[in-house]
Amino acid sequence: MLKNRKILLGVTGSIAVYKSVDLVRRLTKEGASVQVIMTDASRKFVTPLSFEVVSQSRVFTDTFQDPLSHISLTSDADLMVIAPATANIVGKFAGGIADDMLSTCFLSFKGKTVIAPAMNWRMYENPVFQKNLGYLASLGVIQVGPEKGSLACGDDAVGRMSDVSDIMEGIRSALTRKDLSGKRIMVTAGPTREYMDPVRFMSNRSSGRMGYAIARAALRRGAEVILISGPSPLKPPSGAGFVAVETTGEMRDAVMKNLKDSDAVIMAAAVSDFSPEDKNDKKIDKSGGLVLKLKKTPDILSEIGFMKKRPFLVGFAAETGADISRARKKLLDKGADVVVFNNVLSPGSGFDVDTNQITIIQKEGESSFPLMSKDEVADLLLDRIAHFIP
Ligand code: CTP
Repeated sequence: MLKNRKILLGVTGSIAVYKSVDLVRRLTKEGASVQVIMTDASRKFVTPLSFEVVSQSRVFTDTFQDPLSHISLTSDADLMVIAPATANIVGKFAGGIADDMLSTCFLSFKGKTVIAPAMNWRMYENPVFQKNLGYLASLGVIQVGPEKGSLACGDDAVGRMSDVSDIMEGIRSALTRKDLSGKRIMVTAGPTREYMDPVRFMSNRSSGRMGYAIARAALRRGAEVILISGPSPLKPPSGAGFVAVETTGEMRDAVMKNLKDSDAVIMAAAVSDFSPEDKNDKKIDKSGGLVLKLKKTPDILSEIGFMKKRPFLVGFAAETGADISRARKKLLDKGADVVVFNNVLSPGSGFDVDTNQITIIQKEGESSFPLMSKDEVADLLLDRIAHFIP
């Protein structure tokens, strides 16, 4: 998505500026070309050389360095990003002040701008600053963060610049067409756990990567997203309604509670199929050996599938082989509109990897796709769904 995109990154004077070196590295790694503008204050923290090395491009610091650079730089940029954005630069932008290279570029730029504020919490809460921020938001400037956390002064409060991964997501979102705006999409992700006693459970190897990628992609495309997730090491995407669950029963209840008003439900979770018939209140003593009696868990997908009135419904069929027939049967047996087949034993398609190779199965036909990133799979699937939830 960022390949060949031209990003104009403004960095201003905050201790958070060191994170922006990594931001440039990550942007360029994804194929974007980044042109950095540094304010005088930012150069007290980091030298231009650091940004020149990671961007492999000259850094602009002075309006008079090159005549008309404030026009040439902004005329072909796809996006302007200010990270970190101090209270000072936000005030200048809101007031139309153009007294340095960055503020001059902001005034001459016609495209979208993303800002990642960073400052002390007292400054952040200041009504003058909040008014400036609100004014920029009303003009369409997109704000990422700040987060609550440990600040330079030692206080734990709101003012920390967002993590680089969240700023990256804000940038991707700013560059994405909002074709799902007004739609509400529910996504399930990760494994579920079924307890046999308070410390032991049955589960599976799902990491949640596919479901989280779908939730991120839907958010970027403007949808309202509810992510219902079993235990996963992944950070929930900011902006999604997030419900953390553990057992299949909890997942079912959360799904049913959020079903109304959803336009589509995408069940990417690897739901445990069985749970122990009895759950012991105390840790089971191993000395006598153990025979477990299992019962089936509720099938959430088919419960929705056979409802009279229901959202567009997508299930996943993670199979251990190339035979697609079980997945075809799941489409009919569970009453889904789409089943996404993948062979978890095929290289690059299993658990804990960032790629997947899928076949989309519908009553109308099937389409197989080559190995691609889970982010690409997510967009592909949403393209298909968007068609059915106009
Ligand atoms: N699913 C569900 N509730 C369950 C089990 C599965 O909603 N109790 C959903 C999954 O989220 C997935 C789809 O059903 O979208 C298919 O899951 P999968 O595990 O592949 O199929 P199962 O029906 O469990 O059959 P099997 O394990 O025998 O392959």
